[in-house]
Amino acid sequence: MSDLSKLESDLVSQIAGAADEAALESVRVSALGKKGSVSELLKGLGAMSPEERKTEGAKINALRDRVSSALDAKKSELKEKAIAAKLAADVADVTLPVRAAPAETGRIHPISQVIDELTAIFADMGFSVAEGPDIETDFYNFTALNFPVGHPAREMHDTFFFPPDANGERKLLRTHTSPVQIRSMQKQKPPIKIIIPGRTYRSDSDQTHTPMFHQVEGLVIDRKSHLGHLKWILAEFCKAFFEVDDVKMRFRPSFFPFTEPSMEVDIQCDRSGGDIKFGQGTDWLEILGCGMVHPNVLRNCGLDPDEYQGFAWGMGIDRIAMLKYGMPDLRPFFEADVRWIEHYGFRPLDFPTLAGGLST
Ligand code: DAH
Repeated sequence: MSDLSKLESDLVSQIAGAADEAALESVRVSALGKKGSVSELLKGLGAMSPEERKTEGAKINALRDRVSSALDAKKSELKEKAIAAKLAADVADVTLPVRAAPAETGRIHPISQVIDELTAIFADMGFSVAEGPDIETDFYNFTALNFPVGHPAREMHDTFFFPPDANGERKLLRTHTSPVQIRSMQKQKPPIKIIIPGRTYRSDSDQTHTPMFHQVEGLVIDRKSHLGHLKWILAEFCKAFFEVDDVKMRFRPSFFPFTEPSMEVDIQCDRSGGDIKFGQGTDWLEILGCGMVHPNVLRNCGLDPDEYQGFAWGMGIDRIAMLKYGMPDLRPFFEADVRWIEHYGFRPLDFPTLAGGLST
């Protein structure tokens, strides 16, 4: 076999054996590249006699053309193979169900839902929403609310205190939303008509208590609001919130340092079945504390009790959420278990409104 036909058969078999485009490219470079075997042969033509050059030149050029077309043919074959492999790998199964959008799968926590529900109800009665800090001073959480220093009511709150700061002051995690009453009365002159939903903290944990829980405070201050107004507001709230036509309420005398007189409110219910029903039955369930704002509290906020008066209440949000939605244990509210939230949570686009329905 001549050198040329040996070279050609070598190149042809290398081309045939190239597994991919990169391998083929290196065969091309080794043959037709600047220093490739065929290019070297062509360079050798210059040293030949014109006669020789004519015959050899024709042979080498013909060889180069054949190698070149073999390369082209193999290249398109490899390209097609690569496309076919990609198509086979990228196959889309159009029979698979479409994955649900985040707005479909996300859930609103029952506490957020209940805060939205009660905000809708009180907003409809003309209340606005006020907020305050979770980390409070002893002054706002206790002193300004007429808890005398050393009064046992302070101990009843199982307060979480921070270590004393450089000035010896011990900050605390607010034990109720009532300090925001003080902050609001300092900022704003009457008439005041606000609700204050928020987190509160006490060192307590069992089936119906968690160290962090939620309250909603209500505060109305003007020149003549009285307990009759408070009773109407609370009754309207309970009917709207529990979505029943009638709720029987019972006001029991109680004690809070920041109200005088003070009361606790029970609502009538029926606990004879598995779950609680409102607007019927013979049982009572405590849901909130309330009263007329104590003159000392008004004075502590720079308001003259001979000029201004009003009432306040504080209600456990978690408690009314458990009651309304039939959740027996408070602790899972704060365990971040997706199975629980999928079961008890609410759809994000079903925002509660009085017109459109609170919980449906
Ligand atoms: N702050 C009280 C508590 O956490 C609840 C309360 C009772 C708030 C009476 C009030 C009120 O505003 O008037 O136990």
